[in-house]
Amino acid sequence: MRVLGIESSCDETGVAIYDSEQGLMAEELYSQVALHARYGGVVPELASRDHIRKVLPLVDKVLRAAGPREAAAPVDAVAYTAGPGLVGALLVGATVAQSLAAGWQVPAMGVHHMEGHLLSPMLAADRPSFPLVALLVSGGHTLLVDVQAHGHYRVLGQSLDDAVGEAFDKTAKLMGLPYPGGPQLAKLAEEGDSARYNFPRPMLKKPGHDFSFSGLKTSVLLTWQSSDQLPQTRADIAASFQEAVVDTLTTKVKRALQSTGHTTVMVAGGVGANTRLREALAGMCDDIGANVYFPPMRLCTDNGAMIAYAGWLRLQRDGLHADYYAPVRARWSLEALT
Ligand code: KG4
Ligand code: ZN
Repeated sequence: MRVLGIESSCDETGVAIYDSEQGLMAEELYSQVALHARYGGVVPELASRDHIRKVLPLVDKVLRAAGPREAAAPVDAVAYTAGPGLVGALLVGATVAQSLAAGWQVPAMGVHHMEGHLLSPMLAADRPSFPLVALLVSGGHTLLVDVQAHGHYRVLGQSLDDAVGEAFDKTAKLMGLPYPGGPQLAKLAEEGDSARYNFPRPMLKKPGHDFSFSGLKTSVLLTWQSSDQLPQTRADIAASFQEAVVDTLTTKVKRALQSTGHTTVMVAGGVGANTRLREALAGMCDDIGANVYFPPMRLCTDNGAMIAYAGWLRLQRDGLHADYYAPVRARWSLEALT
């Protein structure tokens, strides 16, 4: 079985082919970062137009890379991100996927973007097994999920305001770092002293697994405004902010492991690329005898491989004749999946 995956929920056009025997056969990714940089954030209409320009050339590239095949169609199904995300951007991937699938007479499969992220650690050589706790940390979501099995997700906690990636991006922006801020802030933090500022660890005193990052963001803003704003101060604020976020996420993951009784945690989404977060989670898991898994670095942020893989898992479970249609939607709960 071979699945073509198309991701277009935000500002990356990702296309890949996953094959049951050969694994990932081809991957292509086009990032629109340069296009949106001058606006300091993603402009939805520009994102949709750029997906239109890029998606078919990338499909062509992955099909060529995968090579010819002795079958009526080059793939057995076409998976596309149906949501959550920017509706105009999603429509581009969904329309192209549905058209290709109709032409090849294979199923078009609507995939949940966060399920794609959630399953991406399974694409690494060392893969976790269910049940487990998943920490999904991206620009749009901060979710702690109890994963009993593939398709069985219970959201334990989520952010009540900003997503963690969004908090990284906004904090970076207020200190004048170029877009996209998250990775820039993380890089700057390497030169900073994380103990110089003791920023709040939000929601740690409250029971439950929810998060909130707006108070932390305000605290950083006030500190920045009243500081000398010299390069070392900026690095120290970056490091102290990152440490507060990492500490909060690590503590909440530990609590989620304790309350579910699971001994495995898997991390996914753009912020999963943060090396300090990886280090802190690995240390905490080591202390309590749990195991932690991450996707390969390049698959932390949005990509087509996770969509092809999530589509392939459903195809394997439900067969070629199941109804995989899903309309595009800006909001879509992971718990609605089965
Ligand atoms: O998963 P993703 O590519 O897109 C969404 O679905 O949102 O995540 C992007 C987010 C951005 O907010 C970006 O700043 C953040 O992930 N990010 C990072 C790092 N790399 C990406 N945040 C902190 N440290 C990083 N190394
Ligand atoms: Zn994402």
